Amino acid sequence: MTSADDIVQTVKAGYAFTGPALDLGALVTDNSSHPDVPVRIPLGMISRHGLVAGATGTGKTKTLQLMAEQLSAQGVPVFMADIKGDLSGMATPGVANDKVTARAADVGEAWAPASFPTEFFSLGGQGAGIPIRVTITSFGPTLLSKVLGLNETQESSLGLVFHYADKAGLALLDIKDLRAVIAYLVSDDGKSELDGLGGLSKGTAGVILRELISFQDQGAEVFFGEPEFDTQQLVRLAADGRGIVSVLELPAVQDRPALFSTFLMWMLADLFHDLPEVGDLDKPKLVFFFDEAHLLFADASKNFLQAITQTVRLIRSKGVGVFFVTQTPKDVPSDVLAQLGNRVQHALRAFTPDDAKALKATVSTFPNSGYDLNELLTQLGIGEAVVTVLSERGAPTPVAWTRLRAPQSVMGPSDPALIAATIAASPLQAEYGTAIDRDSAYERLTAKLAPAPTAPAAPAAAPAPAPAPAPASRQREEPSAASEVGAAVAPVAKAFAVAAAATLGREIFRGLFGTASKRKR
Ligand SMILES: Nc1ncnc2c1ncn2[C@@H]1O[C@H](COP(=O)(O)OP(=O)(O)OP(=O)(O)O)[C@@H](O)[C@H]1O
Ligand SMILES: [Mg+2]
Repeated sequence: MTSADDIVQTVKAGYAFTGPALDLGALVTDNSSHPDVPVRIPLGMISRHGLVAGATGTGKTKTLQLMAEQLSAQGVPVFMADIKGDLSGMATPGVANDKVTARAADVGEAWAPASFPTEFFSLGGQGAGIPIRVTITSFGPTLLSKVLGLNETQESSLGLVFHYADKAGLALLDIKDLRAVIAYLVSDDGKSELDGLGGLSKGTAGVILRELISFQDQGAEVFFGEPEFDTQQLVRLAADGRGIVSVLELPAVQDRPALFSTFLMWMLADLFHDLPEVGDLDKPKLVFFFDEAHLLFADASKNFLQAITQTVRLIRSKGVGVFFVTQTPKDVPSDVLAQLGNRVQHALRAFTPDDAKALKATVSTFPNSGYDLNELLTQLGIGEAVVTVLSERGAPTPVAWTRLRAPQSVMGPSDPALIAATIAASPLQAEYGTAIDRDSAYERLTAKLAPAPTAPAAPAAAPAPAPAPAPASRQREEPSAASEVGAAVAPVAKAFAVAAAATLGREIFRGLFGTASKRKR
């Protein structure tokens, strides 16, 4: 153990940044705080990503809130998934009480109640918030496989189905579109096309179809379709220059962890596609807090994990900082963990052998320090953490036992009436409030399969290779002229002829996750 004086000197020097930073709190030694020794993260290093970890009830969510408040105040938009509903408090000024006042004094914080410009979102309108929907085409086969719990063979088969639909210009807007395409492929009419796909067995297609039907039966229809959410909406400033805090309210879908964690990944992947390269900025364009991150990594296919790792690696150069929030660093694959430069580790328990293992693993992910982390990590108080971040030069800062500041907004839910009023007043409500059902694959195939008049079968699509991995730089591609032409009035036969003529160049471009986007920038 290093002496307290040494720690104070080391931490003071290690966190003496010159530029703007987020103030996390104050150094603690021997259980007493040093309000004159702040522990901070340089704003420019936020896009080097981070991890906020700790056992239940140790202060993770308040840490997010605290960071989000300061980011917003410094003009950085923030996205947060609000799994329990307690982050909606960002929209309501906090109320001073003895506890807050004492903590503020303890850590040298000039505390004043404050609220932040907040926008509430929900998945598919489940719960309070502007509905976020995504088309099946855009969501892509990789993420959909994760949601459906498909195995790797099924995942690659689903990839072939998407490939077929992309080439045929069949827009997959919602679940019934995808159902229609698979049903068509396994029908007598679709046989030649199925054969042309090479590699998609009727049996596997049938399994996927059944999974899809049961997914739909569970009410999943509302999450897919149009109008599709434009993730660029998350990168906005309020009129006063503060960053907008976008809170995705998830309490209503808490029991669908595979769904919401995959949706979060879609949002990140979509942001990645759409944002231009910017290199290292003074401050990030957006900070994305990925709560309950272990859900994303659990049971993930190799493909999926690779795509996450790559997205996290590359999105930094687009100015987006990603903070994963989970119980222990063990929940995060090492390739991803290695890219998380900023670490806020709250207390861990050491009750069970599993706890002890997780603790040991956690300690091993920290740089050497004067602390006995095995002991310290189990003794941290609520709202305290062991911190190490990247300095302005990009080097790890000294590990510091930190007592965190208190958030200035309400630590808990906002009043439902305020949430409702905020949603009603949002300009996004007009754009995304109501679902629409455009003509798409379902309508086209239903027409095609109608008994009369029968359309001549389209020539089989070119033999389909598995969707190619994404090149480093993404070029935007419209979904295909065919789908536009065929969409409304064109007779099915013509639509299919046009579709069949679609060249490879017209095919929908799919990103790292097999996601696609048809929006224009
Ligand atoms: N920085 C802080 N300032 C003041 N109080 C705090 C702070 N952090 C935590 N607390 C107190 O501890 C409680 C639990 O914190 P929080 O909700 O952030 O835990 P958590 O780690 O997110 O738990 P869970 O895993 O259950 O979601 C808060 O309700 C608050 O009373
Ligand atoms: Mg929490």
